[in-house]
Amino acid sequence: MVALESFDEGAGEAYASPTTWSEWIRFVEASAPRLEGEGPFSEEERLDYHSQFVVLSTPVMDDISLALCRLMILIRRPDGTARRGLIVSRLPTTGKTTALQQLGCALHLAERRRRGRETDEGRLPVAFVAVPPAAIPKMLVSKFARFLGLPVAARMNQAQITDAVVGTLRDLGTRLVLVDDIRLLDTRTRAGAGTSDQMKYLSERVGATFVYAGVAVEESPLLSGVRGAQLAGRFKLLPSPPLAYSGREQQAAWRGLLEGMEDAVRLEWHRAGSVGRMARYLHERTGGRIGSLSALIREAAITAILDGTEKIVKKQLEAVRLDHLAEQVARPPVEQAPSGRSGTAA
Ligand SMILES: Nc1ncnc2c1ncn2[C@@H]1O[C@H](COP(=O)(O)OP(=O)(O)OP(=O)(O)O)[C@@H](O)[C@H]1O
Ligand SMILES: [Mg+2]
Repeated sequence: MVALESFDEGAGEAYASPTTWSEWIRFVEASAPRLEGEGPFSEEERLDYHSQFVVLSTPVMDDISLALCRLMILIRRPDGTARRGLIVSRLPTTGKTTALQQLGCALHLAERRRRGRETDEGRLPVAFVAVPPAAIPKMLVSKFARFLGLPVAARMNQAQITDAVVGTLRDLGTRLVLVDDIRLLDTRTRAGAGTSDQMKYLSERVGATFVYAGVAVEESPLLSGVRGAQLAGRFKLLPSPPLAYSGREQQAAWRGLLEGMEDAVRLEWHRAGSVGRMARYLHERTGGRIGSLSALIREAAITAILDGTEKIVKKQLEAVRLDHLAEQVARPPVEQAPSGRSGTAA
């Protein structure tokens, strides 16, 4: 039996999404995982490195940051009404949260370059919250309060917490508010509708641009009904699809991503270009979803370190069992004929 505890060191922290201002600052400063210096690096150092891995620029990320740049110029001068915003939506594990967080980091670092370290004392250019499941308005605004480090006493009502949050976001000059997992807001329920109203209220009072992310938001109740129409009328929907592999340009983008991952792999006998040569196979295995691709390459690299082969080969990739969604697409289950009737014609 493998001793699990020896592989679990430091787990948790690196993966957790920031929920407070100080966690956000730490997240912004953490930047890309790196193996500092010349090496050689120990097995443990390399395992640790592959457990976090790099964040690569993807076409979706480029689209989102371009759209955000344009939007921030468009709404630079507030007109006292709810601001226009963006919704990043589509399939699971296509990198929506990562794209949102990278946008936030880029804006935070740009502000720091402009203003120096005071950015992190009296200013907070970016706020990031994730919608809690079955959110009620007080819950969501309390999440904002927690992010901002505001004490929330049990006797405070929703309006009081909201006032404190709005005041603080304004005082801190917050310019970008990122809200993840927006699909969890079910506007058909009273609580969900109230929470959605509250988001609108916040966006009317805080001079920030709001960017939401969630799975299949366009099919969720969030954009239907009167409330949905108000949101749909102000928010641009940006798809976050898996990467395709049909045209020349799409194949080049996929290969670019593979090259980036391959460059980041730290294996002793890895030959440059060997992952790129399996581009079609890797697309079939992962359906073009970056979450599955990253997991596949990292798990293969970790296996190669542990078994001493120190290179990524197809046999090893074949042996990695991916997430259920990827496995279903790449290796659909063989249909079983009902027992006793196999081979019989209908
Ligand atoms: N640009 C990227 N470069 C490298 N790896 C990435 C990138 N984007 C996402 N990943 C990897 O894919 C995984 C899934 O990404 P992420 O959580 O951002 O997807 P998501 O679309 O928000 O998923 P969900 O639909 O579950 O909310 C991450 O853990 C990360 O390892
Ligand atoms: Mg996500």
